[in-house]
Amino acid sequence: CGIVGYIGHRQAYPIIIKGLKRLEYRGYDSAGVVLYDETGLKLSKTKGKVSDLEERAEKEITTTGNIGIGHTRWATHGVPNDVNSHPHLSNSGNLVIVHNGIIENYEPLKKELIKRGYVFHSDTDTEVLVNLIEEVKKQEHIKLGKAVQIALNQVVGAYAIAVFDKQNPDEIVAARLGSPLAIGVGEGEFFVASDASPFIEYTPNAVYLDDEEMAIISLKKPLKIRKIKDDSLVDPYIQELQMNLEQIEKGGFDHFMLKEIYEQPNAIKDTFRGRIRVSEGIVKLAGVEDNLQKFMNADRIIIIACGTSWHAGLVAEYIFEEFARIPVEVEYASEFRYRNPVIRPNDVVIAISQSGETADTLAAIKLAKERGAFVFGVCNVVGSSISRETHSGAYTHAGPEIGVASTKAFTTQITLLTLMALRISRAKGAMPRADYFRYLQELEMIPEKVEQALQTNLEVQTIASIYKDAPNCLYLGRGYNFPVALEGALKLKEISYIHAEGYPAAEMKHGPIALIDERMPVVVIAPKQEHYDKIVSNIQEIKSRSGKIIAIVTKGDTQVKALADHVIEIPETSDALSPLLTTIPLQLLSYHIAVMRNCNVDQPRNLAKSVTVE
Ligand code: G6P
Repeated sequence: CGIVGYIGHRQAYPIIIKGLKRLEYRGYDSAGVVLYDETGLKLSKTKGKVSDLEERAEKEITTTGNIGIGHTRWATHGVPNDVNSHPHLSNSGNLVIVHNGIIENYEPLKKELIKRGYVFHSDTDTEVLVNLIEEVKKQEHIKLGKAVQIALNQVVGAYAIAVFDKQNPDEIVAARLGSPLAIGVGEGEFFVASDASPFIEYTPNAVYLDDEEMAIISLKKPLKIRKIKDDSLVDPYIQELQMNLEQIEKGGFDHFMLKEIYEQPNAIKDTFRGRIRVSEGIVKLAGVEDNLQKFMNADRIIIIACGTSWHAGLVAEYIFEEFARIPVEVEYASEFRYRNPVIRPNDVVIAISQSGETADTLAAIKLAKERGAFVFGVCNVVGSSISRETHSGAYTHAGPEIGVASTKAFTTQITLLTLMALRISRAKGAMPRADYFRYLQELEMIPEKVEQALQTNLEVQTIASIYKDAPNCLYLGRGYNFPVALEGALKLKEISYIHAEGYPAAEMKHGPIALIDERMPVVVIAPKQEHYDKIVSNIQEIKSRSGKIIAIVTKGDTQVKALADHVIEIPETSDALSPLLTTIPLQLLSYHIAVMRNCNVDQPRNLAKSVTVE
């Protein structure tokens, strides 16, 4: 979910609506806003997107007021409908709240409040929280900030909240545990938001709350930050942000996803910028240098991640084992955290996350740390929760990724993990010097080759128009490109709602081959690489069952071309780096199919960009 709040000399409504739109990547099944001026509180909320809210609010309420809070929601408790949308009011009608996260012990709290006469209108845990704050405030005759603090100390769960009291409309109280919250500090005005994008054009100055911290944001007093647990004061650390607005807008593309697909040559360059000197054979990542011994002595690397980041982890498994000869296990964070994982003293854990906020990954990191593991983070979002929770790490520097379907995050994660594997391999002497240099040279040429792979766009679009109505699709790949098959299938599922499965090509004969007939498109990732002849045999097996073959091949290929219905050519590179190129046409394929099916490419149904719930 996403939060935006404003207090100051401007009209709050336009700032909140624009801000919520920028935060829609965090969830978009309902939205709401509450404003206050001398006429009182004005609340409007609805199931649907921020644009639906805008339409409704402008009919339903007068949108004036210099204080307000808004929310875009991804439902956890209660179905997405108007009543369950945020903001929520307390029973007295004085307090309003927006909340991200989950209050786990809401049931006993709710029962207790009902006993005391409170009435609940929604199914949400949030309504419980706002009434708990109200009850505490009433019982203790205290100010809002204090009441929030006492209430939060009774709560088990995760949250980011912003709350205000219409009887004191010069103040917003914000708090975080597990869900991010940034405060924009302007002149005579403040912003509260889940990330800095809603206020970046008003002020570059931001304070990021840490877990278990709360802020009293008042127009009358300097900004105060306190620890929720022990009430101690924390000096607000005001950071000057580098992000610019253009970076987070679409820049001429129809969708963020397409923009981000096209950003990959530069994003990959940004990942290795300043980190490699090819002629001297240098790879330098500060986080790896600082912990080189740990990596060199690692008996095993455990990679934890979710979604697309997990696929990047699978590619990294092949790369680390080949380059650095360290055994690797790749785990879904959600599986890792809920069993009793064995962690030995020389195990190194690498957590991969674009957002750095994924709840399961974060919890898995905490568990690994408890068991004594050294945890290294690979994140894109600077200052994110995972980047702070890990012992050390490296950023991918892909720039903001807004489209829910991950694209440039994936290729930059693979790039970064490749750099790590090369560095560790070199330190261990695990790879012949000549190979090491060759990989570095090839890596440096990847952005240019991604550029060429992007030129397949029109061909891919034509293929998309042929298969856009297929009910199913199979993706096959071997070795380094098996994870790419999984990722290709995930992309199609996510944004076009076509059922798709990725499989290691050789496993096809153990099941999926039964699905193949003349209606089944099969995407085969078949660059010229080791075991090329094996994948050619797989293609023959599909062809003899009348399956439709869309093959990704290396430029100049003839063998697969003779068999496939369609081929998409990508430049030649080494096996290990080929995922960075084979992925590109698969991203474009899912993009075009989704557009042709009139799907919401950037915000597919039921999904969220960062899943901050378990
Ligand atoms: C969500 C997103 C995916 C992403 C996954 C992991 O499901 O829709 O695109 O791969 O979360 O996110 P992370 O930010 O941890 O990489």
